[in-house]
Amino acid sequence: MNEAADSTRPIGVFDSGVGGLSVLRALRAELPLERFVYVADNGHAPYGERDDAHVLKRSHAIADYLITSHGIKALVVACNTATAAAIQTLRAAYPELPIVGIEPALKPAAALSKTGVIGVMATRGTLNSEKFRKLLAGLHGAGTFVLQPCDGLADAIERFDTNRIQSLCGEYTQSMGNFGGTTGEMDCLVLGCTHYAFVDSELATLVGNQINLLEGGAPVARQTRRLLDQFRPGTLNQNPASAQSNLPMFYSTGNVNLLESAVQRWLKMNCKTLALHLD
Ligand code: DGL
Repeated sequence: MNEAADSTRPIGVFDSGVGGLSVLRALRAELPLERFVYVADNGHAPYGERDDAHVLKRSHAIADYLITSHGIKALVVACNTATAAAIQTLRAAYPELPIVGIEPALKPAAALSKTGVIGVMATRGTLNSEKFRKLLAGLHGAGTFVLQPCDGLADAIERFDTNRIQSLCGEYTQSMGNFGGTTGEMDCLVLGCTHYAFVDSELATLVGNQINLLEGGAPVARQTRRLLDQFRPGTLNQNPASAQSNLPMFYSTGNVNLLESAVQRWLKMNCKTLALHLD
């Protein structure tokens, strides 16, 4: 394939549902000339409360679909849970494809924190994963991390159930302990699930506006650019005219309307979402 043709191929992005839209938003800001194909696997969600085998199987089915049906030039796993469970086997299965994952922003939080106490909200699947254990072990001595599995929160955000969002955010932040700038208090809160970026204002109200909330969308977008730039020269789209014609394509394996309204609400975009059957 020649480079001109290569550069117009889309970048594939997937999540268990609407959470990955927070990563897509950052990707579109970083790479405005690129086309994206987004798959929300909401027919098989939530990932965070399922076993690894399920998440692994779904991740491979989606990657395979994006490669064979859309000829993607890179894959962004816009889900912490799927990254933890599947990124290694995805890279092994598709060694030619640049694949970018996302992990909870523990390192940036440790660098930023003054109290050295950092709250981490994530799915049970992410917190129990081998990958997360290694990340934590690598930061031994760099801070104290208060880990909070947030069962049900991604699902509430998926359905945009505002009462449940409010009560779960309240319950989880309270059970983590004290937030603030005094010794022993958490001055950083890591949003370790891509869904949680969409409830950042609710969380900020609960923990206090002075607390640093860290999510991973922008670093993932920068890493995607770097990977394509450095390892696949010529694959980034350089044609300024593309900016007008590159609305993402959206696919949902579950409730199409939920994804469509999430795109309108959070990406301020009207889109046509297509149903995808992928077993
Ligand atoms: N958005 C996903 C993540 O970043 C998981 C949500 C789910 O449990 O399905 O971990």
